[in-house]
Amino acid sequence: MPHTDMSEREQLSARLEQANRQLLQSEKMAAIGQLAAGVAHEINNPVGYVYSNLQSLETYLGDLFRLTDAIDSADSVADLQSIKRNIDYDFIRTDLGDLLAESREGIERVRKIIAAMKDFSYVEDEAFKLANLHQGIETTLNVVNNELKYKAEVVRDFGDLPDIECILSQLNQVVMNLLVNAAHAIEGFGRITIRTRQDNDQVILEVEDNGKGIAEEHLTRIFEPFFTTKPVGKGTGLGLSLSFNIIEKHNGRMDVHSTPGQGTCFRISLPVRQPATEDKP
Ligand SMILES: Nc1ncnc2c1ncn2[C@@H]1O[C@H](COP(=O)(O)OP(=O)(O)OP(=O)(O)O)[C@@H](O)[C@H]1O
Ligand SMILES: [Mg+2]
Repeated sequence: MPHTDMSEREQLSARLEQANRQLLQSEKMAAIGQLAAGVAHEINNPVGYVYSNLQSLETYLGDLFRLTDAIDSADSVADLQSIKRNIDYDFIRTDLGDLLAESREGIERVRKIIAAMKDFSYVEDEAFKLANLHQGIETTLNVVNNELKYKAEVVRDFGDLPDIECILSQLNQVVMNLLVNAAHAIEGFGRITIRTRQDNDQVILEVEDNGKGIAEEHLTRIFEPFFTTKPVGKGTGLGLSLSFNIIEKHNGRMDVHSTPGQGTCFRISLPVRQPATEDKP
């Protein structure tokens, strides 16, 4: 039964709206699919060796139980010693240590990736609110102070900023990623400058370091999920892609300038007010 109280035009616009929502949803799904493929790839390797380690562990435990069970049934200590030699006890002993250490490292890596993934997901109850970006920066500086203080002097070059409509906890996360990256790029002791200013209906935030810079062939890749130049097990390569995502969600922009050997500057611009959208009252 058609709704008699809905005019044809109303029906059409409802259908259009639904199609629109489906389109948005499918774009989101495509992005999630891409991310999921990346995650699967990254997790596959550690999960693979943890799994094979578990199989070795099973074999080793079988051997060790053979030895301990023999304590009750063996006729002599010599019998026990012979079983011990037979199962290659010394090898099991060292290999068990390696196997456990390697497995722990693998699980650690998976855990790091999962923690980063959580930040990617949209937390619906986090709302856009008017907030003071400088306050967010100070909070973040407190959090990462331990990582920064031996690596760099932090210079604040702050302008006058209005409160901006944002999810401050997420912007803090972005600032944190940029600061930690900057510190990592500095060999010895360097300088990190945090610059802010207002530009009409935008605010500009820059994080600049005088570290080793980014090679030109890497510049186009640094925002890709899982792109990292850090040693295996050190970086997940998710920091910048996560940050990019957050800035995009804030209808802002993020770009980068870098000169190898001289330093890098990340520049973010954010609208003071979020554009009105349909799903906001
Ligand atoms: N300030 C910087 N100076 C030099 N290189 C940088 C800087 N920021 C990022 N990069 C380069 O971009 C890559 C990607 O950065 P991203 O933050 O996404 O991942 P990561 O720092 O390697 O790992 P994670 O942030 O997950 O610990 C880094 O590995 C590094 O090569
Ligand atoms: Mg990083």
